[in-house]
Amino acid sequence: MRLPVELAHAYRLLNHGPTTLISAAHGGVQNVMAAAWVMPLDFEPPKVLAVIDKQSFTRSLIDASGEFALSLPSRELAAATVNAGSSSGRDGDKFASSGLQPFKAQEIAAPLIDGCLAWLECRVIAEPANQQRYDLFIAEVVAAWADSSVFADGHWLMAPDTRHTIHYVAGGRFFETGAAFDV
Ligand SMILES: Cc1cc2nc3c(=O)[nH]c(=O)nc-3n(C[C@H](O)[C@H](O)[C@H](O)COP(=O)(O)O)c2cc1C
Repeated sequence: MRLPVELAHAYRLLNHGPTTLISAAHGGVQNVMAAAWVMPLDFEPPKVLAVIDKQSFTRSLIDASGEFALSLPSRELAAATVNAGSSSGRDGDKFASSGLQPFKAQEIAAPLIDGCLAWLECRVIAEPANQQRYDLFIAEVVAAWADSSVFADGHWLMAPDTRHTIHYVAGGRFFETGAAFDV
């Protein structure tokens, strides 16, 4: 049976791409927030799309610096991810409150987040109309990293005994990716 889905819930059908942590820095200040609305856009040069709310403090750092980093947490960092997604760096140091640990990126000033599965360093390709109207950012990936226990030879291992990406549904619920299979 095919069930109709309320339009207000339509996004949830696509919402389970890997949850990310978006971090940014400017003028000696750095911050991190959770973001589920992130996806690849192009292969060469690699680009991503991210929806980054103009109310967020992270957005103000990205607007000022033109850079952000994506870090992909696993279940171990799920609670810290929700913390980073439900409080604002305007109100205090979220690295202290969430326990998320920043470390230095290679190509950009925005920090990467320790203990994650993968990291993408991104430079914004300015599209002011999209950024303003839809909070939609296009960015080029200028460096990318992955933990070798979960990603090797260009592929996620998704093995039962490795850590997995987490995917946000809604209402504080995530699920983990399952086992890989080949066709
Ligand atoms: C799991 C999860 C996913 C989220 N995804 C997004 C997103 O894709 N885009 C966005 O703008 N906000 C998203 N948020 C909300 C921001 O993380 C939230 O507004 C955060 O408090 C902003 O922090 P800041 O003001 O310190 O930048 C998400 C929150 C959670 C918990």
